[in-house]
Amino acid sequence: MRSFLGRDILSLKDFERHDYMRIFQVGEELEPYARDRQNGELLMDKTLVTAFYQPSTRTRLSTEAAMHRLGGHVVGFSDPRMTRAGDFYQESIKDTVRMLEYYGDVIAMRHFQQGAPHEAAKWSTVPVINCGDGWGEHPTQVLIDMFTIWREMGTLDGLHFLLVGDMRMRTMHSIGYAMSKFDISATFVAPPEMSLTEEFKEELLSVNLVFDEAETTEEAIADADVIYMEPVVQADYTRSRVEVEEDRGLTPAAYRVTREMLRDRAKSDAIVLHSLPRMDELPTDVDDTRHARYWVEAYNGVVIRMALLALILGAAE
Ligand code: CP
Repeated sequence: MRSFLGRDILSLKDFERHDYMRIFQVGEELEPYARDRQNGELLMDKTLVTAFYQPSTRTRLSTEAAMHRLGGHVVGFSDPRMTRAGDFYQESIKDTVRMLEYYGDVIAMRHFQQGAPHEAAKWSTVPVINCGDGWGEHPTQVLIDMFTIWREMGTLDGLHFLLVGDMRMRTMHSIGYAMSKFDISATFVAPPEMSLTEEFKEELLSVNLVFDEAETTEEAIADADVIYMEPVVQADYTRSRVEVEEDRGLTPAAYRVTREMLRDRAKSDAIVLHSLPRMDELPTDVDDTRHARYWVEAYNGVVIRMALLALILGAAE
């Protein structure tokens, strides 16, 4: 079994079933810090460096909160325009990381370029956590999603997932790899211009994932145990920042999940996950149905990120 000590978390491609289970187990051990809102001392001699080249609410703040909950320290930036990487100098990943590694013991990076955290890991002597790279992957988010499903459904095996939204999204790539490690089948629903690429389909087939595609959520929802959503009204994830346009458009009915649809067509115990932020694909009146699990998912962000930090920094075996 591969140790987490000093390990870069860049992709879920190289995660095995026991890796998920070990993170879930440590998450459950550390959960009291999050549940009881009490900070401990487990990582009091460690420092996290956050290097966020793209906006984030959940990923950065829950990673920082996880470090604080374990008594650790945090330095970093949430906007590259305040650093030499985002001004006149356009300082390279290599040069930036060769500074950041002296400022802490682990680097959590979000970047608009796919592969940027991998490049950082090449030069860094401390572990790098990919907190989302362009359209690439978002491994920590999907670890949180899988933990949420495991806890809520009591298993990951034997489930059918309905995945709705923009299949270019980094979460969709990471969850594709994650599903393939369990006895999970999947149906993907996306607008044609945002559907699974042939290359990614080949990759999913090569890891024996059983999946199909449907045109609308409505026709596929009845079979789903887990409904996993992303917007189709979408920002360009290859840019550092996208300001709001006057008219962002509405989500076509085929890619929405509504309260009525859940009542009339979904399994009684189906759960809805959304990594957030949402647009109109998931109306707010779904929030108080028994299906909604995205707020639990958000809470689990702190739990699982505590587990990852503790494992990577050697405070848990
Ligand atoms: N789920 C997620 O990645 O949210 P943020 O972009 O706010 O971090």
